Amino acid sequence: MLEQGVVKQSDVTNNPLIAVTMATSRQGVGVVKELSKTNKYQVRAITRNIKSVKALELEKLNNVELVKGDLMDPQSLNKAFNGVDVIFGNTTPTKGWKLFRGSIVRSYEMEQGYNLINQVKIAYKKGTLKHFIFSSISKAKDPLKNEPAPGHFTSKWDIEDYIEKIDLKKITTVLRPVSYFENFENKLPGYTISKKIFPGIVGKNFKWQTIAVDDIGKWVRGILSKPEKYKNQSINIAGEELTGLEMSEILQKIVSSEAIKTKYLMIPRVAIKLLEYDIGVMADWIERSGYGADMNKLKLIQNELNIVPTSLKEWLKVKLKKDNKIQNSWEREWKSSQWKLQWYK
Ligand SMILES: NC(=O)c1ccc[n+]([C@@H]2O[C@H](COP(=O)([O-])OP(=O)(O)OC[C@H]3O[C@@H](n4cnc5c(N)ncnc54)[C@H](OP(=O)(O)O)[C@@H]3O)[C@@H](O)[C@H]2O)c1
Repeated sequence: MLEQGVVKQSDVTNNPLIAVTMATSRQGVGVVKELSKTNKYQVRAITRNIKSVKALELEKLNNVELVKGDLMDPQSLNKAFNGVDVIFGNTTPTKGWKLFRGSIVRSYEMEQGYNLINQVKIAYKKGTLKHFIFSSISKAKDPLKNEPAPGHFTSKWDIEDYIEKIDLKKITTVLRPVSYFENFENKLPGYTISKKIFPGIVGKNFKWQTIAVDDIGKWVRGILSKPEKYKNQSINIAGEELTGLEMSEILQKIVSSEAIKTKYLMIPRVAIKLLEYDIGVMADWIERSGYGADMNKLKLIQNELNIVPTSLKEWLKVKLKKDNKIQNSWEREWKSSQWKLQWYK
């Protein structure tokens, strides 16, 4: 048992040990859950807080151990990577929202990136680490229109360059996801997804590449099934390529039996830039240069790696079902509280 972590006795196996950084993030949870299901790996889920609700949820999964680690603290990473065969690495640009700054801080993500890659190198030199999977962000479809690129994209590409600079590319697979479907669940009043509204950050006729965040886990599982072939490779990954109108039509079809009219609503760029300037730059970038996933090539790789991408239609159905469940339980709660109030009168 690691002094700083929690290892369940039932989880002590000879399976390859895979460290997942930022394990409680949306990506991290997707990766941990997918690898846990395979029963082929022991997953070391790294988080800054092993007592958080999200961390404890992960701890309940099979083949998962929790270990404390902070990307801003190289020593904690050094311990967390001790003896691992594979590392899934991710970084975050998000540092807490401040007026006139927003929450995205490029230097914060770069520091995490350098710490992460330096510790990957140390683990590799020790001789146990065989494979590093770095989750970056999709590069541009039209590289000539790349500038000005969003700061939090540039950080990830700079970290990729650092991987190459310190000679780790030979053991590295870079996965570069596009925008998550989960962004449609943003909390902006009036612009969160509902049966009536499909919100987006780009124009309604623009083809926008998107992916279900859990599919990043499927990609990691797939890459791990053919590590030698996919080391020294970088892949832009996406699940869908649809315009805003096409996306809202999919939602419209799902809710048509309820006689609801769905519309695509583009969040005003000026509002985005006021709230989080770099996300506004990102929306400009997506419209100008576009994400560069090659959808035809991806189909071939997905077949090879046994990855079935989540369609937007499927994702929406699951989401609406979950929302209905929550709504029903609220209604039940509300009715029972009404009943109690009457009883107390
Ligand atoms: N949103 C998109 O569409 C999209 C698409 C592609 C790529 N990305 C990129 O994917 C990355 C992850 O995003 P996400 O939305 O999955 O993350 P998220 O859900 O916002 O989670 C962020 C996580 O980072 C962890 N964290 C924060 N600071 C940390 C630190 N110093 N050291 C270690 N962990 C730290 C926190 O975990 P603990 O508190 O438990 O430690 C938290 O769970 C970001 O770089 C984002 O830019 C996003």
